[in-house]
Amino acid sequence: MAKGLISALLVTLCLTWPAANALAADERMAVTLNDEQKSFVLGHMRDMLEALTDTQQLLLEGKREELRQRIANLQSREQANRPKGLGKQIPPAFRAMAQSMRPHWQAIQNPDLSEEEVRQHAVDLMRVCNACHLTFSIQ
Ligand code: HEC
Repeated sequence: MAKGLISALLVTLCLTWPAANALAADERMAVTLNDEQKSFVLGHMRDMLEALTDTQQLLLEGKREELRQRIANLQSREQANRPKGLGKQIPPAFRAMAQSMRPHWQAIQNPDLSEEEVRQHAVDLMRVCNACHLTFSIQ
């Protein structure tokens, strides 16, 4: 009985803590970027949100080859526009979180995975987006 109560409390805490935390005073770690770096990073963020939206649509339509191309376009645009020196400016923890998106984008691109697997990777990817947004801000 007490055990059940404690685990129910723990689950509630885990579910509400991130939301409560986001509403509290901004305690995120600030990453300072110059104007060019900032406009690249935020532009790429908006691109990723659009790519995730298209991912949902293309999965619904079963257009896996188009999906592969869509993510490849996202990645080549990122590489073409990335300002020099950005890598040195961002803290290692930020870079590590950015890199942890990679296997999920790769899986979304992979036409050999089942739709269910791709959808799970899309959800896991969004958890990385959210975790990073709770941890960092850009100045
Ligand atoms: C490595 C950390 C990190 C990851 C991973 C990340 N973001 Fe962000 N994102 C940020 C930061 C920091 C900001 C700026 C937030 C602030 O300063 O309030 C931001 C801002 C944004 C914005 C607002 C852009 C604007 O024009 O202001 C969007 C949209 C966004 N992210 C989408 C995403 C999506 C979608 C994903 C996952 C596919 C994602 N982000 C993954 C760190 C991250």
